[in-house]
Amino acid sequence: MCGIVGCVGEKQAKNYLISGLHRLEYRGYDSAGIVTIGENNKADLLRAKGKVVKLEALADKKPSTDTIGIGHTRWATHGEPSEKNAHPHKAGDIYLVHNGIIENYKELKTELKNYKFITDTDSEVLAALINSLYDQNTTLADSVNQALKLVVGTYGIAVISVRNPDEIVVARSGSPLIIGVGDNETYIASDASALIGFTDKAIYLNDGEMAICRGDGVELRDMSAQPISCKVETIETDMQAIQKQGYEHFLLKEICEQPSTLRSTLSGRINVKDKEANLGGLNLSSDELRKIEHVVIIGCGTAYYAGLLGLYYLEQLVDGLTIDVVAASEFRYRSFHLPKHTVALVISQSGETADTLACLREIKRRGIKTLGIINAVGSTIAREVDGGVYVHAGPEISVASTKAFTSQVAAITMFGIQLAQVKGADVKEVSKYIEELAKLPDEIEKIVSKDKEKIEKVAKRYAQYEHALYFGRDTLYPVAMEGALKLKEISYIQAEGYAAGELKHGPIALIDDTFFEVALLIDNWLFDKSLSTLEEVNARGGHIFVITNSKKAIKSEEIIRVNTKLDILAPILINVVQQLFAYYVAVARGNDVDQPRNLAKSVTVE
Ligand code: F6R
Repeated sequence: MCGIVGCVGEKQAKNYLISGLHRLEYRGYDSAGIVTIGENNKADLLRAKGKVVKLEALADKKPSTDTIGIGHTRWATHGEPSEKNAHPHKAGDIYLVHNGIIENYKELKTELKNYKFITDTDSEVLAALINSLYDQNTTLADSVNQALKLVVGTYGIAVISVRNPDEIVVARSGSPLIIGVGDNETYIASDASALIGFTDKAIYLNDGEMAICRGDGVELRDMSAQPISCKVETIETDMQAIQKQGYEHFLLKEICEQPSTLRSTLSGRINVKDKEANLGGLNLSSDELRKIEHVVIIGCGTAYYAGLLGLYYLEQLVDGLTIDVVAASEFRYRSFHLPKHTVALVISQSGETADTLACLREIKRRGIKTLGIINAVGSTIAREVDGGVYVHAGPEISVASTKAFTSQVAAITMFGIQLAQVKGADVKEVSKYIEELAKLPDEIEKIVSKDKEKIEKVAKRYAQYEHALYFGRDTLYPVAMEGALKLKEISYIQAEGYAAGELKHGPIALIDDTFFEVALLIDNWLFDKSLSTLEEVNARGGHIFVITNSKKAIKSEEIIRVNTKLDILAPILINVVQQLFAYYVAVARGNDVDQPRNLAKSVTVE
């Protein structure tokens, strides 16, 4: 949450700052600001409430040749979205941008008695604290270092000073920061997407590290001011991956590119001929894999639902395996007990989600092996797990997660296949999964290339409702919850996902003409039971939209039939239809589908 940029060197700074903020806007978009320092050490601070485009309009009116600057796009934690509360914050000679939360800001504020605070933010307190320690005998880096020792909370910060406008001091604890290494140019960014096109060389800061960034180099230190060596890594993402490529929205692009992103997830990991799945990178020997008796799957939001769907597949694949799927925000404060021979699967698109990261650290502390299923390369969770896989879905820019879900479920399934194989499962049973995984990208292709118009038409019919109930049984229960989440977050329609069998235990009371229902059905051994639930809803005047792979007669207002031979993995196809449905509903309602209100993509605060 919140995006930070910075640059120092020979080139005009504003160009990178604005471009970087646009790319990081998915991290927060309630206000934005930049400050640059130029001739005569004069600072030029620009801030605007709203999206980066508003800031850009201001910046366009003020041409600048300044070669050092920092910028920020905000997702408010303390203090309402406003120009006043937008970053950068000024305190004396320094300017600061901050991502994270200063938990002891009230105590610090009372100690800074003589400082006149202007904003309602915790970040200004940190700026004032650094400024109070920044006297003539102290360097900016030392003042930042001393200030951070007094801080409780999380931060990724970048600080500049008009007294020494040749360097940016950055530090991180709990909020990501990357330093881009260019030719006589050093860049700062919250994630690699801002750097693409400027440099492909990056230093990923770890928690407890700070750096002094100059145009001609970077000095990395720990919090006791001891030098650390810099590891420069190459960013693999290319420009195309972060562009809309002709699609109206990133969300539509990300839904439609699932055939290819899923192929990348599967590539080199399944072998249909030899009926094998093999995830390199687990860092577990066959013996260690064989000993696994319990799996705990951790994630938030869509990643959590991917874990819930994964549970059904793992249970079917691996005899005797016990599995818990937990929402990280809850699990981190529970007095949980994990049995011997547990492995934790940590699922995250961004690899930065604060609650998921906190669980990972606690589980590791207890000596349990952790495996990541992560999309963002080089992210904090990816760097801290004991092993795991990247899902290789490419940058997910739209705030609502879509392609990551599909790839996460595929990765959990491959993990299950590998576990089943090593534990001596029946080859015939396991190979069904491998065959379906191999066919899945083409099956998704059929939906995104042929069914969009049909789905759009149905979406228009339901776009004016304010309430929706999604329901499904078995593997379709997590899919129903994911469908409801997608709809609510981009269309703002109140939507809930239920296990079909639970409807009559309460939710069915809701059904009236203000609701529509999305019924998910697969033509399997539970089909007739699902049909009974559907009839119960019909009998109460429901407005049902069915998504199914069945060709059988089903009574409903609308129906989308997925034409597929897949059986086990059909829920993933049903989910793709739901993704498109939510997209078209949001478009029909005129919403900002890529940046829905109140949200941010990378949830790095609690
Ligand atoms: C929903 C959505 C969120 C994320 C959740 C976890 O569309 O995007 O629910 O899935 O914030 O994020 P990651 O996967 O980055 O840990």
